[in-house]
Amino acid sequence: MGSRPTLMIADPELIKTMNIKDFHVFVNRNDFTFGDPLQDRSLFNLIGDEWKTMRSIISPTFSSGKMRSMHPIIIDCVHKLVDNLRPKAMSGEDVEMKKTMGNLTMDVIASCAFGTKIDVYNDQKTNEFIVNARKVFRGNVWRIWVFSILLSISQKLIHWTGFQFIDPSAQRFFGQAVKSILAKRKSEKVQQKDYLQLMINALNRKNVDNDKEPEVDDLNEDIYGKTQSIESNSNSKPGTGITDVDILATSFAFFVAGYETTGALLSLVFYNLALNEKCQQKLYEEVNGLDGKYDYESVSKMPYLEACIAETLRLYPPIGAVNRYALEEYTIGDTGLTIPKGMMVNFDIYSLHHSPEYYPNPEVWDPERFMPENRDQLTPYTYMPFGTGPRNCVGMRFALMEAKTAVAHLVHNAGRHKSRRWRCRCGCHHYCQQFRNNLLWTLCSHVLIADYILLSMPSVHYIGVHHKIERYVRLWSSHGFPQKRLFPPYYQL
Ligand code: HEM
Repeated sequence: MGSRPTLMIADPELIKTMNIKDFHVFVNRNDFTFGDPLQDRSLFNLIGDEWKTMRSIISPTFSSGKMRSMHPIIIDCVHKLVDNLRPKAMSGEDVEMKKTMGNLTMDVIASCAFGTKIDVYNDQKTNEFIVNARKVFRGNVWRIWVFSILLSISQKLIHWTGFQFIDPSAQRFFGQAVKSILAKRKSEKVQQKDYLQLMINALNRKNVDNDKEPEVDDLNEDIYGKTQSIESNSNSKPGTGITDVDILATSFAFFVAGYETTGALLSLVFYNLALNEKCQQKLYEEVNGLDGKYDYESVSKMPYLEACIAETLRLYPPIGAVNRYALEEYTIGDTGLTIPKGMMVNFDIYSLHHSPEYYPNPEVWDPERFMPENRDQLTPYTYMPFGTGPRNCVGMRFALMEAKTAVAHLVHNAGRHKSRRWRCRCGCHHYCQQFRNNLLWTLCSHVLIADYILLSMPSVHYIGVHHKIERYVRLWSSHGFPQKRLFPPYYQL
């Protein structure tokens, strides 16, 4: 990461050992703190005991009981989406799926994490929340460039220059927004059912587990593995130590973590359904079996819906690798190889998901892999779109609930015909899907391609500084790792 040597790991046994048994050595991610509390206090960036305490406060707010009580908010957002699409259906207008699903996830985040209602479909240009949310994700190409260049030279440069990856004006806006909502909420007697309220309860030192919401068996351990909990510090009771700034940082993390990831997942589910008519038919039959009654329990228990989402996350994991650094020198099994203290380790999700060893025909979208009758063929720790171990994605349950609810509702409102038009408006060769009432959806993946180019810029930069890579290879070999010539023309090892 940046200018730090990193070891990539894609062996399921090692992933298991390092993330479960030896988790105490690999607790922390790369240090991404830059002196801004909005980012520094987020669960992503906290380290050691501070992370443990915060995680033990936040984890219960994502319990299945809490998700169920928040589910009506998600359903409201999905209904708004369907209402917005209906007139377009009547007029036969094309709809670009990535943007549309981004609107849905933004609406969900505004409602749940910021307690704010937005008219995401009609008020794109003037609504302050939407304008600032855009700044966080879209308006910062030059910032990403400068940031990645500084990072690849030295992380210290970022600290010294105080350069912010996220537009400071957008950060200020979200900071002020949460502050004023918090002040209002504290003076209100009626408790809202959203995520922000759960955080406020934690702030008020109310044990979130005291609210007796029955739990739902909603997470499929055959697919996502067993949820690992962490031991909270003996002296940390729920709510202890959490401040307004922590709530602000958590709401912001919710936004950063949940917007692009869930939006991409949803648009890619529809893209693949559009390409696979049989799968579309099968899902349509499963979803219609419930006749529009998509409460939390029902959407959690649809095997084919689950399989379509799991397979999309396999083929296109929104986060391709997760990183940790070693808190102490670590010897890998009985190999005699050592990872020096402070070294970065990346767990390579993308390579595992695309390995023919674990997933035959890995480039083919095939939800059958995740159907109950085939799950015994999955190798444990080769599927980890949400990471694994006690520091996995705390929002996994929320993301899955949102995705399943949206897909179930939209497929229920959809027909199963392929469009007569095979190209989208911009002339690219992507498939279209025609829905009931002539609703035509197209997915233009040009936006995705632009994203990939953008993300690959830092990599291009790393390759440019090849003398550094050479140094890393030497460094690893001095710790007993076999040498491999990655770029033969450049390296004389
Ligand atoms: C499809 C959607 C999503 C995917 C694929 C995803 C994936 C991930 C991954 C791979 C990690 C890193 C795990 C690790 O280091 O082992 C992560 C961490 C995290 N995610 Fe998600 N995520 C998604 C949605 C969400 C949502 C909706 C939220 C918030 C509600 C969220 C909040 C977080 C947080 C706070 C962390 C840091 C956890 C910690 O350090 O303790 N994610 N996510």
